[in-house]
Amino acid sequence: MFSSFPFFPEQASTMAPRVDALYFFLIGVSAFFGLLVAFTVIYFAVRYRRRSDAERPAAIHGSLALEIAWSVIPFGIAMFMFFWGANVYVSLAKPPDNAMEVFVVGKQWMWKLQHMEGRREINELHVPVGKPVKLTMTSEDVIHSFFVPAFRMKQDVIPGRYTTAWFEATKPGSYHLFCAEYCGTEHAKMIGRVVVMEQAEYQAWLSGVSGSSAPGGSEGNGPNMVAAGAELFKKLGCVACHLPAGGGLGPSLVGIIGKTIPLQDGSSIVADESYLRESILNPQAKLHQGFQPIMPTFKTQLNEETLMQLIAFIKEKGGAV
Ligand code: CUA
Repeated sequence: MFSSFPFFPEQASTMAPRVDALYFFLIGVSAFFGLLVAFTVIYFAVRYRRRSDAERPAAIHGSLALEIAWSVIPFGIAMFMFFWGANVYVSLAKPPDNAMEVFVVGKQWMWKLQHMEGRREINELHVPVGKPVKLTMTSEDVIHSFFVPAFRMKQDVIPGRYTTAWFEATKPGSYHLFCAEYCGTEHAKMIGRVVVMEQAEYQAWLSGVSGSSAPGGSEGNGPNMVAAGAELFKKLGCVACHLPAGGGLGPSLVGIIGKTIPLQDGSSIVADESYLRESILNPQAKLHQGFQPIMPTFKTQLNEETLMQLIAFIKEKGGAV
């Protein structure tokens, strides 16, 4: 339906029909009441116009039934919109547990992407069809926004923290990727594409058999992210303090994601990727209770991409090299 109607991008993700259904419902209700009010204004202006100077219409003292009706009906419609919208929002915000992960770094003016398996890309993202994909994203400089209209997915990419988004593509093809936040001179050129492939084709692509031929496409193969992260964990000396069994100078990192961490100031935090990121770059910001503030910052030894590798390793192995 939408391919012949140029105002709408194709529906190519599981969320796209749900987002569109809500959108059309909102447009429909707004158009209905907008037109109803407009026509009523015109009709009443003509029907009840003053016909002579002597005309005195009867006074109206209100109608309780009418007032209840015009309060309850819009309230019901607004609540229906709210719960429908909240339902769609929650689905958009929460990646399914079986999602595969891709890491995204935005910078002026390109998108850099890393797959867990080690494949890296610039301004192109290859994904399999029918598989949820979770993006963990950050920026090296200013705010960007990762926007794939065909997936009805748009998420700000912010320096200094991780944001996440997810989608599940429903048909193979090539889809536009835009930066949707004005980020400087070449913002308009910060574009790319998402290539959705059949599962087997994707596996072949991952292993580097069918390389991308597009200019500015694939950046090549590296070690998988967990292995690269393990190397960093050893090289940077993390391994000396964060013993997997505990008892080191730093806390054990085994199974840390999702754990509630007691902090020095008596509060607590549920550990996620952003917490790990902050603790690596600014270790004293949220210090684990019972440990000394002796960890140095690793700001200068890591960039956003190697930091993501280190975190991928910690998530998967908890520091057991
Ligand atoms: Cu990046 Cu606009």
